[in-house]
Amino acid sequence: MPLPGSTDPLVLGIETSCDETGVALVSGYELLVDSVASSMDEHARFGGIIPEIASRAHLEAMIPTIRRALGTAGVGLEQVDAIAVTAGPGLVGPLTIGASAAKALAVALDRPLYGVNHVIGHAVVDELVDGPFPERVLALVVSGGHSSLLRIDDTVEVTELGSTLDDAAGEAFDKVGRLLGLPYPGGPHIDRLAREGDPEAIRFPRGLTAAKDQAAHATDFSFSGLKTAVARWVEAREDAGLEIPLHDVAASFAAAVADVLTAKAIAACKAHGVDTLVVGGGFSANSQLRDMAALRCEEAGITLRIPPIRYCTDNGAMIAALGSALVRRGRPASSLDLPVDSSMPLTQVLV
Ligand code: KG4
Ligand code: ZN
Repeated sequence: MPLPGSTDPLVLGIETSCDETGVALVSGYELLVDSVASSMDEHARFGGIIPEIASRAHLEAMIPTIRRALGTAGVGLEQVDAIAVTAGPGLVGPLTIGASAAKALAVALDRPLYGVNHVIGHAVVDELVDGPFPERVLALVVSGGHSSLLRIDDTVEVTELGSTLDDAAGEAFDKVGRLLGLPYPGGPHIDRLAREGDPEAIRFPRGLTAAKDQAAHATDFSFSGLKTAVARWVEAREDAGLEIPLHDVAASFAAAVADVLTAKAIAACKAHGVDTLVVGGGFSANSQLRDMAALRCEEAGITLRIPPIRYCTDNGAMIAALGSALVRRGRPASSLDLPVDSSMPLTQVLV
């Protein structure tokens, strides 16, 4: 039943697509609690997420994280009106743990279950911060696994405009971090170094921005050439016995990524006549991207919506927010035997 004083259904969201076990409660556009447990410390020494370790960690963290969320919000399980869970994309083992927990709750409480798309959750979470989306927005979702440009109508109707042809933005940061000898994940370390470097020190390539790419790939991204260019530049310095100016390499690399992401997103807004750009996903924590997006959107007269960093990385709030949007629109719930889908298409918002 809706909480006292509210007519909005109370949605419990569960996220387990990667290494974060996230549980959140959302009522309408209001976030009551967002509880997250991470297994990142257990993966760092392997230089990447180990799915089996993540699955085991989700299994151990699931019930304590649900209990903590309910306790913090002062809500009983019987007050929950609907369960939303990440159905994909993500790692199959971790997704299965979250889906199993969500199904068990849905059956035990006799409540509807919504299997939702993780990537779309990264955009829609912004409704909890900046309020309902206007009729049409453009979304740039950038994470360790995705760099996508989407047109979103009525919050839940998604058209995919483009995506990365090779590495995602966060993935490119993590790979460059490795070649610079930084701890995993390298993204936040490069961000920190870049803040003290000169973004114009080295002119790294901007993938798929040449005139010849504009026709076929105006809204697609490619970061693997950039990653290789950084590797070549660093190797050449090492071969010459010169020191690597880490701050300048980081700043010039980060500037190249932010330049391409923001230029393409703003061009797409103009091409589609959309005046609001939503930026989400773990990589939208990146300060070079945030700064450049703010500057360029202001110049272009585009309203920029980027949630605070704690809602950019994986969490349950994004899943509860998307569940809430679907419940509000009266969308039919998923079947209790819904499958998880590691490569769930971005146009599929709900299973
Ligand atoms: O969305 P997310 O938490 O997980 C995925 O669904 O992939 O994104 C994690 C990615 C990692 O590649 C991480 O290095 C990157 O986001 N990241 C950053 C920053 N914070 C996280 N990259 C650059 N700068 C940051 N501040
Ligand atoms: Zn994510």
